[in-house]
Amino acid sequence: MQRTQVAIIGAGPAGLLLGALLHKAGIANTILELHSGEQVLARVRAGILERGSVELLDEAGVGQRMHAQGLVHQGIQLSFGGQRQRIDLQGLTGQSVLVYGQNELCRDLMDARKAAGLTTHYEARHVSLHGLGEPRAVVRYQHLGQDHELACDYIAGCDGFHGVSRAGLPASAYHCYERGYPFGWLGVLADTAPPADELVYAQHERGFALCSMRSRTRVRCYIQCSLSDRLEAWSDARFWSELKSRLDPVTAAALEPAPSLEKSIAPLRSYVTEPLRFGRLFLAGDAGHLVPPTGAKGLNLAASDVRYLARALTEYYRDRSEAGLARYSEQALRRVWRAERFSWSLTQLLHNFPDHNGFDQRIQQADLDYLMSSRAAQTVLAENYVGLPLND
Ligand code: APR
Ligand code: PHB
Repeated sequence: MQRTQVAIIGAGPAGLLLGALLHKAGIANTILELHSGEQVLARVRAGILERGSVELLDEAGVGQRMHAQGLVHQGIQLSFGGQRQRIDLQGLTGQSVLVYGQNELCRDLMDARKAAGLTTHYEARHVSLHGLGEPRAVVRYQHLGQDHELACDYIAGCDGFHGVSRAGLPASAYHCYERGYPFGWLGVLADTAPPADELVYAQHERGFALCSMRSRTRVRCYIQCSLSDRLEAWSDARFWSELKSRLDPVTAAALEPAPSLEKSIAPLRSYVTEPLRFGRLFLAGDAGHLVPPTGAKGLNLAASDVRYLARALTEYYRDRSEAGLARYSEQALRRVWRAERFSWSLTQLLHNFPDHNGFDQRIQQADLDYLMSSRAAQTVLAENYVGLPLND
């Protein structure tokens, strides 16, 4: 039987970052990942980093390329009523965000992990967790057709929303709080210049739209779509035309359509598991919670969970104190719920809800009107967008 101190399930941003932080603290860890490294890197996901996430990546020693290639954004643009208006993140909060693709970030973490000679078993199948209430936990899995067992002190369930860590628990062990939304996002990745220097979030009667970017020559754009929409029905031409119809004229004119490199539809969902600890198992990132992407909080929440967990495990191995581990679930959930609130409210503000009546629509317009006329309201949005403080 193999042995490690912490077994990490999943090599997404949460698992990889946790592995890097634990390694820095001298804590042995092994990652078991269902897919190949190439498959993990092929996923197209948001990459808006709060300052706390940037600092954590620096602490993990993987910040070099992120600082060289990431784009510092000091504001975001809101497009509605035929106009574009700026929220001055820097002016309102003294902070900015960093635009850096999540797959780039995973690549940096994977490269650093390989260079440090740390163990990652990609394509690990049939992972199952045992002994969560015992003095030692064991992870069973198959790799290259062989059965394996990995004994460990603790397990970090960083295997995303569809992973085994949460799914393997009895339903009575946790409670989930959930909200679905009656629409999805259709996203397109394309090599063309962003229509503005900053992200443009658009509210329109035809539905929400977003022009994000990966670099100065690559955009990631989204439009709100119906949950029954099929990708085949969305040619590139139809996508760009629909996107432009939802943008203010200045942004629409600046957007040059280009062939899609990737196109996908994702439903929107809010989801929180409570608690995040089950004996020797700790859930972190999407394994424990989901937010709708409107506030770009998914990756940042994964980072803050991992920060709390890495600190708690470091304290345990350094001082033999379980105080931090005992506090993890409550501490992480407090920040999760604030991000849930923000992601839900921004989704509410900017989307077209099919079941809304005229009253609801006017309230939404009044919300936007108030936001653009009140520095206090803009500060609330800005301080949430750049990231609420991490409490120790
Ligand atoms: N066994 C091992 N690994 C698994 C299993 C399994 N049974 N199931 C899933 N995984 C792996 C997935 O293949 C994936 O690589 O766990 C990893 C989870 O990664 P993510 O889904 O990216 O989740 P997380 O690391 O928590 O990152 C959260 O991802 O969804 C976005 O917006 C979200 O940016 C946020 C980030
Ligand atoms: C993205 O770049 O994919 C992105 C950016 C901001 C969001 C959501 C997604 O709010």
